[in-house]
Amino acid sequence: KKVILAYSGGLDTTTIIPWLKENYDYEVICVCIDVGQGQEIEGLEERALASGASKLYIEDLKDEFVEDFVWPTLKAQAIYENKYLLGTSIARPLISKRLVEIAKKEQAEAICHGATGKGNDQVRFELTIKALAPELKIIAPWRIWDIKSREDAIEYCRDHGIDLPFSVETSYSRDRNLWHLSHEGLELEDIGIEPDYDKLLQLSVSPEKAPDTPEYIELEFDKGIPVALNGEKLAGVAMIEKLNALGGKHGIGTIDLLENRVVGMKSRGIYETPGGTILYAAHSKMEELCLDKQTIAYKSTIAIKYAELIYSGEWYTPLREALEAFVNETQKTVTGKVKLKLYKGNIIPAGASSDYSLYSESLASFATGDLYNHHDAEGFINLFGLPLKVRAMLLNDKNDQ
Ligand code: ARG
Ligand code: SIN
Repeated sequence: KKVILAYSGGLDTTTIIPWLKENYDYEVICVCIDVGQGQEIEGLEERALASGASKLYIEDLKDEFVEDFVWPTLKAQAIYENKYLLGTSIARPLISKRLVEIAKKEQAEAICHGATGKGNDQVRFELTIKALAPELKIIAPWRIWDIKSREDAIEYCRDHGIDLPFSVETSYSRDRNLWHLSHEGLELEDIGIEPDYDKLLQLSVSPEKAPDTPEYIELEFDKGIPVALNGEKLAGVAMIEKLNALGGKHGIGTIDLLENRVVGMKSRGIYETPGGTILYAAHSKMEELCLDKQTIAYKSTIAIKYAELIYSGEWYTPLREALEAFVNETQKTVTGKVKLKLYKGNIIPAGASSDYSLYSESLASFATGDLYNHHDAEGFINLFGLPLKVRAMLLNDKNDQ
């Protein structure tokens, strides 16, 4: 009997290996999925095997992450609770999908993950597994075992003959991938205090530490997808890496959010999404130019629902897929270039152009053009204002009585 374990190499997931063998008598197959967390892959296999695993898969899914998860989310302009660009949320369905694929290949009976029993991640992992492989058993040790602290975990490992150099020092609960880095826990749980950003931030700096001179960039989009930066064609991963460096340098894309988790409680997170924040701003500017009024308005209502689905782990659902189709239809003309000025945490638009631009300078200009007849406005306003007039007349009559 085999179990597939989502493995990071950290203390928690390493502890799970002997725990699974002891409690289920499983052969443990570890899978480490690289979505750009920038972690040491070196020594990971050794560590997994030394802890009792029979095998370690290392899967580089960065391209798939960008193409199939980040870009659809960007095109939707999906943002959770007005702020969160969903960095952790969009990686979970991809990770789970690959776990399922490997489980099928290995004919495993179960999948095991190291998410806690209080968070969103357990929901995302498990909804995806249920959607893709209902027959697989799911094991979430954090909801079962008695291990409560890093000390407990280290002791458990030692008792099981695993002596690895883990520090007892507790740290923030962090999750990093190509798109973002999250920080939760420790003193951040006291929402009354300002985070110590100089200590906290890893991808970015605070605006105070950002350069005093602004920097201009130009982004080119093709059907809603960013394809070039400053005239250089870039594939997705490289695009995000470069924008992370640029945005980070200028202190862009750090948020402090008190969010509503799927499991009911509010929790505070500090999220760094420097490149992603630039891309959302640029993409939004393109849409201002290329989409008509009704589509923009309707799409923005979709974006809220889309974000909610992603946040709650409902990626592989009929509604999310239908919304993706809608969004793709709207992106057919979202093609063109945007210039932005990056300056101390700000993204300032500096011009945009598109072959599909719906903006007409002659129409908008105060100088009269052929397309617009000022006299038409009078009749238009008479009809547009008719309900207001009818109601005002009624109120007048009532007041007179
Ligand atoms: N609260 C954020 C979310 O739900 C970030 C979660 C980070 N996950 C983690 N295991 N540290 O998406
Ligand atoms: C976790 O508990 O796994 C991290 C927090 C979250 O999922 O929101």
